[in-house]
Amino acid sequence: MVKQTALKSDRFYKEAKKEGYRSRSAFKLLQIVNKFELIKEGDVVVDLGAAPGGWSQVAKVLVGEKGVVISVDLQRIEKIEDVVIIKSDITKEEETVTAIKDLMKGRDAVNVVISDASPKLSGNRDYDHFRSSELSTSALNIASALLMKNGNFVAKIFQGAYYDKFYRAVKEKFRYARAYSPEASRKRSAEVYVIGKKFFW
Ligand SMILES: C[S@@+](CC[C@H](N)C(=O)[O-])C[C@H]1O[C@@H](n2cnc3c(N)ncnc32)[C@H](O)[C@@H]1O
Repeated sequence: MVKQTALKSDRFYKEAKKEGYRSRSAFKLLQIVNKFELIKEGDVVVDLGAAPGGWSQVAKVLVGEKGVVISVDLQRIEKIEDVVIIKSDITKEEETVTAIKDLMKGRDAVNVVISDASPKLSGNRDYDHFRSSELSTSALNIASALLMKNGNFVAKIFQGAYYDKFYRAVKEKFRYARAYSPEASRKRSAEVYVIGKKFFW
């Protein structure tokens, strides 16, 4: 758990406040897209585990007026201009895929799926890792149901016993796979982002 005092002196927290982003996580996505060029103008982007909405704000800027951003979370997300918001549990994969397809605004395929979904932390590292791996796997399954050929993907996973299995699963579905820890991830954090580019099936 990060203490309030530590958070307020955090560079990315201050910067997020200044730039009007809802979360310091917004900088993680900015660093990921700068390095891997996952999102372009006009894309349809699905953001899984999106609350409070920092990643969706960044994605909306990148896709521009012609693009579509669909944000999904268990929790309520305050309105973000021109972003479609869905309340859904991503571990209910079919239900989530159907809800997204219903709201695609006439577009028939998704270019990019991004997921920063995290479980509520219990403090038990193994248990938290296991639950994180379940969310990342659901994100990958949802991406597999929605992505167009050559689509892109990024999902967070906490490091632990199931990490290799998840990385291999991404590698099997994308021509290019990498693991990355953005500078904006806290130093002692166990989180890693697995990137997949050029989806094939
Ligand atoms: C670290 S936050 C995401 C922050 C977000 N990327 C941002 O920039 O504002 C993780 C989110 O995952 C969501 N989450 C956890 N389990 C979920 C599930 N089963 N289905 C949907 N969302 C889930 C949580 O509700 C939480 O909002």
